[in-house]
Amino acid sequence: MQNWKEYQEKNQERFLNELLDLLRIPSVSADSKYKADVAHCAEAVQASLLKAGADRAEIYATAGHPIVYGEKIVDATKPTVLVYGHYDVQPADPLELWASGPFEPVIKDGKIFARGACDDKGQMFMHVKALEVMSATGELPCNVKMMIEGEEEVGSTNLGKFLEDHKEQLQADIVLVSDTSMISMEHPSIESGLRGLAYMEVEVTGPNRDLHSGVYGGAVQNPINALCAMIASLHDENNHITIPGFYDKVQELSEAEKKALNSAPFSQKDYNEELGIGEEWGEKGYSNLERTGTRPTLDCNGIWGGYIGEGAKTVLPSKAYAKISMRLVPSQGSEEISELFRKHFESIAPKGVQVKVTAHHGGEPVVTPTDSVAYQAAAKAISTTFGKDPIPTRGGGSIPIIALFEKTLGLKTVLMGFGLDNDNIHSPNEKYDVANYEKGIETIPYFHKYFAELMVK
Ligand code: BES
Ligand code: MN
Ligand code: MN
Repeated sequence: MQNWKEYQEKNQERFLNELLDLLRIPSVSADSKYKADVAHCAEAVQASLLKAGADRAEIYATAGHPIVYGEKIVDATKPTVLVYGHYDVQPADPLELWASGPFEPVIKDGKIFARGACDDKGQMFMHVKALEVMSATGELPCNVKMMIEGEEEVGSTNLGKFLEDHKEQLQADIVLVSDTSMISMEHPSIESGLRGLAYMEVEVTGPNRDLHSGVYGGAVQNPINALCAMIASLHDENNHITIPGFYDKVQELSEAEKKALNSAPFSQKDYNEELGIGEEWGEKGYSNLERTGTRPTLDCNGIWGGYIGEGAKTVLPSKAYAKISMRLVPSQGSEEISELFRKHFESIAPKGVQVKVTAHHGGEPVVTPTDSVAYQAAAKAISTTFGKDPIPTRGGGSIPIIALFEKTLGLKTVLMGFGLDNDNIHSPNEKYDVANYEKGIETIPYFHKYFAELMVK
């Protein structure tokens, strides 16, 4: 296995440059303006898989953006690892807050700055390069299947059907994903769960047209005022969510689980300082790590209505809107929670306004077992290359397709992520440390090695 490291070191600079090339393609899945770039990015991923030694790599068209699938089958008796990742990225705006162009990657202080550097091109590409390392050195402990999609950031709308249609082709022993974060290079960790998501949009209508706020103000309910009061009422004084039934299926952690979760290194003071917030906030009775990892939440993601142009316009608007999302934990169901939200939101609307609630894409929460062979293989791989055992944590983010791997393909997932919470994913100045990129490429082959070893035992 010594050859892996040698090969990686020899090719380190090229591995980095190839990632930079990928980051130059603005594969923004949410914005149709970038449709051709997304397609171009899929081609680049396909080419990179073939270059890495895949037996075959194909692009599958979908009703949305294409899926890239490649595989290298070395021996039918060896276990098979299905790697999942995404090559699409979030929109880059607000552009003015970037220190350099989001699609003109630069390396500063050992960090790669670009949209997608961490989420998920940088992390996905580690698997492509790890495949190259294993192929080129002739040391491939497992069969490798790679499925890289272009719609994760818009809810993986067409991937579910792809799983249904390609069950045979996607047969494997485990799904391996690098699209989450670890605590730090000094404290490597593995996320053992992801939150689900229910995403709603609401429209509140007051009068049948915009009105002069002097002529009518005070006598007609203002839909923005009403919407703000409704949103404010969704949390009580303990920052508990007020939707009836919302917590019914939430599982409380055992004292032992709480203790384990809270033993991860964390400083509320550093957290506040880094984010520029005055004090901690959250649901009463829970720690920061419990709040993001194990508790459901509700956040307003956007709110608009009325006049937002330059200067002042005295208007009592006809309509107000908001996007509101809820992060879910086991065993909350996305559809069920969306329905509870809809009912409640309609019920709290004052008589002076009408409310329309619609649901966007969602996803189910997942817990990945820490006592499985695959988890142990990931832990051993990280111990080998970091010199430290990883700490199990719970991630706050969502990857909706993970629940379907289990439901449709019967496959468990290991979340071996190498990002950091302060990598600014979905924010301006997204970055990924070169050291994390290289450590990932070094660690992944060991996952394959230990997984193969532990599977035959
Ligand atoms: N890679 C993230 C999810 C993530 C980030 C999990 C950090 C754990 C730690 C993924 O690309 C993402 O952003 N997911 C979205 C959901 C999706 C439906 C848009 C999310 O979590 O908001
Ligand atoms: Mn991602
Ligand atoms: Mn993302």
